[in-house]
This record gives sequence, C-alpha cells and structure tokens, in this order.
Amino acid sequence: MFDRLKFDKKNEEEKKRQLISLQKRLAEALKAHEQIREVPIFTAPSEQEIKEFEAITIPEEGRNAVEVEEELVKYVFTKQALLQHPRFFSFVASAVSPYSLAGAMLTDIYNSNAGSFSLSPCAGLIEEKLCTWMASYAGYPEENSGGIFMSGGSLSTLSAIIAARTNKLDEFDIPKGVAYLSDQAHSSVRKALRMLGFRKDQIVILRSDDDFKMDVEDLERAIQKDLKEGRIPFLVIGTLGTTNTGTIDPLSEIGDIAKKYNLWFHVDGAYGGSSLISPIYRNLSKGIEKSDSLTWDSHKWLMQTYSCSTLLVKDKQTLVDAFVEHPEYLEDVSSTDHIDGWDKGPEMSRPQRAIKLWFTVQATGTHLLEEMIEYSFYNAKMVQRELERRENWEIISKPSCGTINFRYAPKDFSPEQLNELNLDITKKLNENGYAYIVTTTLKEMKTIRMCMINANSTAEDILNTIELLDQIAKELTEEKRKMS
Ligand SMILES: Cc1ncc(COP(=O)(O)O)c(C=O)c1O
Repeated sequence: MFDRLKFDKKNEEEKKRQLISLQKRLAEALKAHEQIREVPIFTAPSEQEIKEFEAITIPEEGRNAVEVEEELVKYVFTKQALLQHPRFFSFVASAVSPYSLAGAMLTDIYNSNAGSFSLSPCAGLIEEKLCTWMASYAGYPEENSGGIFMSGGSLSTLSAIIAARTNKLDEFDIPKGVAYLSDQAHSSVRKALRMLGFRKDQIVILRSDDDFKMDVEDLERAIQKDLKEGRIPFLVIGTLGTTNTGTIDPLSEIGDIAKKYNLWFHVDGAYGGSSLISPIYRNLSKGIEKSDSLTWDSHKWLMQTYSCSTLLVKDKQTLVDAFVEHPEYLEDVSSTDHIDGWDKGPEMSRPQRAIKLWFTVQATGTHLLEEMIEYSFYNAKMVQRELERRENWEIISKPSCGTINFRYAPKDFSPEQLNELNLDITKKLNENGYAYIVTTTLKEMKTIRMCMINANSTAEDILNTIELLDQIAKELTEEKRKMS
C-alpha cells in the first residue's frame, strides 16, 4: 500500500514496518468494535490532552507514520462518544453491523468512483438493485422508480427539494413557490429550503397536533390561503419518524392533499424509513405510496456506518431532469443504458455508499432485519411499561418507531423547576457513564428522550438504565426540595 507513494521518501524497511503496524491497528480496531460494551460510552479528552493535540502542527517533512497512528488512537479514536454503544440512547443511532464495516473498509481500499455506472458496472447494479428493493417498500412501481445513495438525510432531502422545484415550478415562478412542513420536521428541511434561496415567507411551518403529527386541515387551509394570494404551493414534506418523538405523519391524507393541489410530496424517512421493512409496522406508513420521493438513512436504523442515505423517487426521470449536465470531458465514460450517479444527484465524484448495505443485506437476509426493527419497537414499549409502574414518571410522547419521551414530575415542582430537574437528571446519568441520554423540548417541557434502535441493547441494559434514572431522579428531587 505504502510503496504506491513514490514521493514518500521513507526507506523500504520503514514503509514495511508502517504497513505491518497498520494491519495490526485494524485488527485491534475491529476487536474494540466487538468489545464495545466494555469501554465507556463517552470518554472526552482531558484539557491537557486537548492542549497536547492542539500543539501538533502540519509538518513540512513527513513524520513517522506509526507515531501518527498512535496519536490518532490516543487523542481521537479513544476520546469520543461511541454512538454505536448499546446504551447510547440519544440521537438516532444504531449498532454498526460487522458486515457494514467489512463492506466500508473494502470499498475504501478499492476506492472506485460511483459517478459513472460504466467505471464500476456491478457496483452500479448494486446501487440500482438496492434502490429498487427499498422503493418497493414505499410501494413505488418498479418500472419507473429509482434513487441514489447520498451522504445523509440532509443531502437527500435537499436533493429531493431540488427535484420538486424543477418538477413543479417554472424558473420564473420560483419566487412565488411555497413549501409546507410541520414544526416537528427535521431542521435539515428548513436548512435545505434556505440554502436553495427560499425566503422565510415561502416556508410555511404548520403547528403539529397533540400527537406531534402534521395537522392536515391546517395544511389545506394554508394552501388555500396562499393560492388566493397568488402564490404557488409546490411542496409538502411529511415525516416518517420524527427526530423528537419518532412520530409518523398522516401520510395518506397528506398524499391526497398533495394530489388535489398538485404539490410534490416528499417523505423524510431518514429515521423511520427502515420501519417499512417490518411487515408488522409497515402499516403505520399507509399511504406512503402516494409520495413522490422518500429519504431513508441506513446509517440510522439499518446498522450502517456513516454515510449511507438513500433518496428514492417514484419516477427516476425527475432526478435526471433536476441534475443532468453533459460536459465534454465525461462523454467517454457516460453510460447509455443506465443512469449515471452524476446525472441523478448533485455530486460528481462520489464513493460507493451502497456496497456496505449490500454486504449487510446479503449476509443477514431480510428476515433478520425485520426482527431487528421490531425489536426496537418492542424495546421502546418496554421503557413505557417500566416507567408506568414507577411513581412520578410521566410519558410525554408514547413509543413511536423506537423513540419515547418522558419526564420526572413530582407534583410540588413548578414547570420551570421540572425543566431544570429533568435536565439535571440526564446530566447526572451521563456523568455516571453507564448510559447516555439527552433531553429535548416538547410543548415547552424538557423531556428525557430515549431512542431505542440499537439491536445490541439488551433488556438488562434498558431496565438498569431506568432504575438508574429513577434513583437519580429521587435523589435530585430531595436535594432540590431541601434547597428551596
Ligand atoms: C428525521 C430526520 N431527518 C433528517 C435527519 C438528518 O440526517 P443526517 O444527519 O444524516 O443528515 C435526521 C437526523 O437525525 C432525522 O432524524
């Protein structure tokens, strides 16, 4: 590997030593991955270590690579949050499959360019087959559906909005276009609209209902008002699995409204898209087949390493219409009977993001993935049951996908005191290091949010975490009572 670097002035002996050390390091990293349970969830670098690392500069002459490797292990890889830890219940993070790891490492080593189908035809087929497979869960007809693998949900949704704008708005009408989303839509949706130059008044944020779902009557009223004022409603974005609560918007009703008013309907399933794999829970997304596009991140719930998101569309031509360019320098490597990656998305050079998912799906089979998804739903319900049998715990959002929100609410505390208490409970839990949980805010209440989508979390992990939360909550309540 190192001998390819012909400008590297190190001698052959040194290069060999580096290669041996790197191989050893990879084996150690894989072992650490297998033994993740035995290391703390989050080890931050000390102030001293940060100072030491800050002192490292970019050298003019190359350094000993083994030393660099050692530094990376000491300061970077062992001093960070391990999102794939079975008791990391924050964010939307799952376990990483060893097959994804193997696929990712091989992909990186071979480093082929997924821009053009013809540069790596079978990798191109892998991407196409996976898109067809995923699109079938959304009920998109096979003949026309398509998609592209992207870095993450944010970029997938940005690209979907570009397709929607191209498809629904004449260029000169863009300043009149209006997009609709709920206040529970992910921040990346608002960010994408802003990045595309839509003004604030072109982005209508609808208040979600008591169950954190988009209110379809409000949606229709807003569309009618905008039409009356001479604006052009062109896009509605529903969510399959909101970040805060795992809620699934009423996709079927939104789809009907989108059809009635000729809007593009995008579903942000970055998180919940994977629930479509389960024959039991697929039903919760009834009507998803009415959508035009779907974001689905496998680096969230399908055990993939970053970055692995898929943008799926009902009609693959809509992506081509939005993104195709024909520069003269790509003519020789452009495909005629397949759509090249660079013609259906914003990137030109792009890594093969689909191979690791292919490796995983081939090695596990879909039945195991179904069980894995259903296990998350089950675990979120387990948390609910466990909290309901304890005193002072309130469920603020019922389990949906793998997420549940709750808070500790002794009757004699004011709303402000409750917010402070619940924040302190999670801080103390995280200091303890057994599990990692963050809060969010729902209806002005600080809530403890647990996202249970790690296939390696056991009942013991979950029940011990609740027990610990309960102990901390009782202790802090007593302390705060004494202080007031
Ligand atoms: C519902 C939803 N959409 C979009 C995103 C953004 O995805 P990414 O971080 O992969 O860009 C997230 C991230 O958590 C999400 O939960």
